[in-house]
Amino acid sequence: MTSSHLLSINDLTALQAVHLIQRAFELKQKNWNEYPSYHHHPTATLFYENSTRTLMSFQAAAQRLSLPLSALNTQVSSEKKGESFLDTLKNLHAMGFRSLIIRHPANDPYQTILDDCPKDIHIINAGDGQNEHPTQAWLDMMTIMHQHPEPQHLKITLVGDIRHSRVAHSFQKLAHQLHLQPPVMVAPKIWKPEALVYGQWTEHLKEGLEDADVIMMLRVQNERLLEHEQLDLTTFHQNYGLTRQKLTWAKPNAMVLHPGPINRGVEITSEVADGPQSWILKQVEHGVFLRMAALEHLIQSGSNSI
Ligand code: NCD
Repeated sequence: MTSSHLLSINDLTALQAVHLIQRAFELKQKNWNEYPSYHHHPTATLFYENSTRTLMSFQAAAQRLSLPLSALNTQVSSEKKGESFLDTLKNLHAMGFRSLIIRHPANDPYQTILDDCPKDIHIINAGDGQNEHPTQAWLDMMTIMHQHPEPQHLKITLVGDIRHSRVAHSFQKLAHQLHLQPPVMVAPKIWKPEALVYGQWTEHLKEGLEDADVIMMLRVQNERLLEHEQLDLTTFHQNYGLTRQKLTWAKPNAMVLHPGPINRGVEITSEVADGPQSWILKQVEHGVFLRMAALEHLIQSGSNSI
């Protein structure tokens, strides 16, 4: 059964994921006057964590689809007065909002409330704790497929704070679903993932970078680190930061990706982030089209389910 939410990579089949990415490429080719209009689908964003790219690219996507988008200011919402998350969603539903785009600090905050949510509410997960960030994984894959339409045999290496990264988590699920080679996860022992969904771990950057076609650098998730998980960032940069010299270990035209925000001089140097192999801003550009396709998917699956 098709899920009426996009909470996880697993809410789409492999075929649907490929269609979503293809649709995003299609939308990228269109002019503004050729976009479909979804003006009758009031949508709300609820961001309980900071965001620039994800929030604004959903807004940009909604604008292009003529979709009325309202943002709940979660800093001053009634949850600060003790209202529950579920009650907040029910109230937004009562106002007519049917699609909700939510970023939440907890891992899978939906599990306990979905049964009690109105059935015609559709949620897009814009990142939940250390759990998932599906639209980021789809846009990362879109960017890889822009350069490598058949990504199955690529060596893809993720580097950094893998343990706390919802981006890495969703990407592994998607790589598995699409039958890609298991990605290589490079992280110091302390940030080794507790359980690998799909991939192999090494603490040696050189091993991970050698012959890599795609390198995805990840930010240190400072806001999620427990005291015993802290690492000296200068040492981290020396051992794991991507510099121009270390980039030569990978294939000559290896793509450098990063979901952002980048911390220059920590996981990546400016030379690499702004260099010829960087696809970082292309990811951001693709994010708008991928999120248009995701909103469209949700609206269409929603109208089928009512
Ligand atoms: C990521 C996130 O929020 O998970 N950023 C994003 O959405 N582009 C990665 C991060 O914060 O490091």
